[in-house]
Formats: sequence, C-alpha cells, structure tokens
Amino acid sequence: MAQVLRPTVAEIRLSAVRKNLQKLARTAAPARLLFVVKANAYGHGAVELARLAEREGLAWGFGVSSVEEGLALRAAGLKSPVLVLGSLYPFESFVEAINADLMVTIASLDAARQVAEAARKLGKTAACHIKLETGMGRIGARKPSVIKIYDELSGRADVRVAGVYTHLSSADTDPDYTGAQLAIFSETAAELELRGARGLVMHAANSAAAMNFPVSRMDMVRCGIAAYGQAPGFEPAMTLKTSVVFVKNVREGAYISYNRSFRADRAMKIATIPAGYGDGYIRRFSNKADVLIGGRRCRVLGNVTMDMTMVDVTAVKEASVGSEAVLLGRQGAEEVTAQELADIAGTIHYEIVTQISARVPRVFAE
Ligand SMILES: Cc1ncc(COP(=O)(O)O)c(C=O)c1O
Repeated sequence: MAQVLRPTVAEIRLSAVRKNLQKLARTAAPARLLFVVKANAYGHGAVELARLAEREGLAWGFGVSSVEEGLALRAAGLKSPVLVLGSLYPFESFVEAINADLMVTIASLDAARQVAEAARKLGKTAACHIKLETGMGRIGARKPSVIKIYDELSGRADVRVAGVYTHLSSADTDPDYTGAQLAIFSETAAELELRGARGLVMHAANSAAAMNFPVSRMDMVRCGIAAYGQAPGFEPAMTLKTSVVFVKNVREGAYISYNRSFRADRAMKIATIPAGYGDGYIRRFSNKADVLIGGRRCRVLGNVTMDMTMVDVTAVKEASVGSEAVLLGRQGAEEVTAQELADIAGTIHYEIVTQISARVPRVFAE
C-alpha cells in the first residue's frame, strides 16, 4: 500500500466481522452463507475481508456485483466459490468469468444462450445460477422464462445450472410483500422439480430475511450489511477517524467555511479536521452531523469542504492538534452511527459506509 501519512483512515475491526459472520452462519445453518463483498465489501475492503472469511472458514463463498470484482478476488488468490450477482454485459465477459471459475447469474434466455456458447468455445463448463423475478423489479426472468432457461441449459454438457435465486425487495420493512415474493419462488421451485431439477441451490435471503424469515433461508443466504455490523444485533466494523490538524479561537460574528452558512453567535474554539466530501464525508453533513473529539459530540460548523471540515470544540478543553476525531463509530461512551448520518443525509446506512472514497486507506485491526 502507498505510504499513509494523512491521519484520515477507515479502521475495520476484523473481530467484529468475524463475530458477525459467525452469528449469520449459526442462524442460517444448515443453509450455507454467501458473504456479499460487492462494492469493496460495502466500503470495508473486499480482498482483506474475503481472505479473513476464507482463512477461517466463515463463509461458503462470496457474492460480487461484476466480473471485475470477482477477478480481483481471484487475483488475490481466493479459491472459494464466487457468484457474480449482476447481469453480465457485454456477453464477452462470460469468457473472463468462465476462465476465472466465477459462477454467473443468468436472467434471460439470450444470456443463457450466450453463456453456453462461450463455454462451448472455451471447452469448459460454466456454472450458473438462474435469477427469478418475484417482485424486486431489477434483473430476473419471470417463472415461464426461468423454465425455458432451465430447459435450454440443463441438457448441455458445457453448462451446469448450480442454483436458482431471487432477491427480496423489502425484507427489512414489509413481511407481507416478502411472503408474496417467497410464494412465487416456491411455485417456481416446485415446477422445476416436476421437470426433474434436482440438487439446485435455492436462495433468496439477504441479511434482513436471513435473520427475520426462517423460511427464506432455504439452501443459502446471501448476506452483506449484517456482516459489516450495520444491522440490529450486529457489531459495526468500521470506524472513520482522523486527527485534528488545526485549532483556533474565533470571536462572535466570525463566519466559517464556504458561503458563510455558519456564523458564530459567541466566542468559540474551532477545530479543523482533514476529511471532507472527497473522502465520502458528504456536504449534506454541513452544520448537522456530530464528530467525536475528547469523547464528546462536537457539531460540524459551516459547509463540509472537499478535504477539510470544521468542528465546534468549545466544550473540549483538551482539544488540540493531534486529538483523535471520530466521524463514524465509537469514541469512549459516545457513538456516531451510520443510521444517524443516513438520517441527516436523507439516505440509508448502506450508502454511508459504501461511499467512503478510495482516497481513505482501510486499515485492519483485530
Ligand atoms: C442480489 C443480492 N443479494 C444479496 C445482497 C445482500 O444484501 P444485504 O446487504 O441486505 O444483506 C445484495 C445486496 O444488495 C444483493 O444485491
């Protein structure tokens, strides 16, 4: 890794990820656990966390969104099964996927024919999972098309249909809709069985479903967010932290940052920290988010800038250059949660951790 001097880092606690994966695996058993590490493990560092999981046998395999993400795992020496959850395009990417032994998602008859053709040309076997649309409305074939895809692929020597799956849109919020999606899945599974399908890995559950809908667990659960500790009952793995680089005292009437969105209504002590929207600490946090310094909540003052953010440390006597500042995570008895930042930004906690930019080094701690 390039030399790290700037103090802004995302610290990832391996012990938290380990504990979270163990809890998911225990809950899902006998279903297998697919550890979803797409988007750089939701910002947590895909290669390092996949290595941890493989080394310690914490997951059966990995879920990624693209062939590129799968190739990165293979390049890092990971040997476990990898399922590409996205729909592959251009179709030439099937060649790369098959060569790297990545399982692919097939969501249309066209893609089914293309993967078979790619495998035939390579003289290799392509392993695929057929994606059923049950109400997510993203990628997936409806039941009659899934049957056609299965018929097209199941007789071929160069393709192995390893599984069938769907994705639940609202397992965290809507049990009725989740139940309806699972009912469509069951009907399709029954029909495939009537056509002689045996030994397919059937899966539907994300983290919320794996924890809350036992019937959704089937043969495998695909979990991301809970593994990173961003779900009730799990331990958050990421702390985004830095150090104060500048401290000043200002008089009443002083303005802070671009466009004067903050004016001091009294004399204040203000710290500057080297993190901003270039790090994924977005401008929506301006004047609203809290940063932890000296174990206390300190309000962001003025607009967050690309590389620096100002914070009110009037109440933190000991705050000085070098003081630790936590933007996300715990410090002492206080904690800034991803949910709290998401509420400020009008988004979801997934986005808060995933958006921490590539500029921020991920450092791994036990
Ligand atoms: C197809 C698929 N399966 C599983 C997951 C994991 O979901 P979660 O992070 O909610 O566990 C995702 C993530 O969005 C996904 O797209």
